[in-house]
Amino acid sequence: MQNDIIFSARNISKFFGHGKKRVCAVNEVSFDIADGEIVSIVGGSGCGKSVLAKIMLGLYSPEQGSFLYKGKNITDTRDHWNEVQSVFQDPFGCFNQFFSIRTQLKDAFGILKNKPSKQEIDRRVDEALLAVNVKPADIEGKYPFELSGGQMQRMLLARIFALKPKVLIADEPTSMVDACVRANILDYLMKLKDELRMTIIFVTHDIGLAYYVSDRIFIMHEAKIVEAGPPETVTQNPQSQHTIRLLEDIPDINREWIKK
Ligand SMILES: Nc1ncnc2c1ncn2[C@@H]1O[C@H](COP(=O)(O)OP(=O)(O)OP(=O)(O)O)[C@@H](O)[C@H]1O
Ligand SMILES: [Mg+2]
Repeated sequence: MQNDIIFSARNISKFFGHGKKRVCAVNEVSFDIADGEIVSIVGGSGCGKSVLAKIMLGLYSPEQGSFLYKGKNITDTRDHWNEVQSVFQDPFGCFNQFFSIRTQLKDAFGILKNKPSKQEIDRRVDEALLAVNVKPADIEGKYPFELSGGQMQRMLLARIFALKPKVLIADEPTSMVDACVRANILDYLMKLKDELRMTIIFVTHDIGLAYYVSDRIFIMHEAKIVEAGPPETVTQNPQSQHTIRLLEDIPDINREWIKK
């Protein structure tokens, strides 16, 4: 089971716009990601990380090349989202301001083909809140605008704990939080991997965070994967100048992790 291939990309490209404004966001990228792997996609702003993440989610399909999920094309996004879920950069954008958080956590189960009973949904929402260290009573009757950015990011993670998808695409899930909450979120992600055996794609600017959480790191630069390998190899024996530059940019607090 461990070696089953979850995502398989062969020379995939994705473009936006036309004529002079045409942008190549992903350029002839190839990779395989195995079941249960944590892969980080690391690179500077605008290099194509989020577009690649959205291809994995089935939000975009590549114009060129072949992209398979468990050996098949993604034809039905609803089917796909039954198994592949995401946590994105902006947690407020993922929740409706006009519905209570608990209602939305419960409604999230609507995406599942086999929706659990009401009692089971309530139980799983409580369990998920506790998994991200939030007492269910503390968010009872609360709306998204009443929570901080960091708390909302935890609500997104609670949604993942509740739905238990097979694959999680986490695009900069720690961008809005301070170092302490960031460490917690990373620990929750590890917990997801350990308890649910989830495959996780973690998108970040920060190669230090990637080192901490990943089995494998993909370095992206200008729409291409320029280097890929286990964290130790990529950080201790970088082959690409772009990797070396990212290593120089690691905040000191994360540098500690690499030395361990
Ligand atoms: N919907 C879109 N329409 C047009 N261009 C787009 C669209 N989405 C992304 N792009 C362009 O594709 C390129 C890659 O964008 P992407 O969002 O993947 O960058 P990123 O690596 O995630 O950057 P960041 O770290 O800032 O989030 C950029 O040049 C961006 O402007
Ligand atoms: Mg992005």
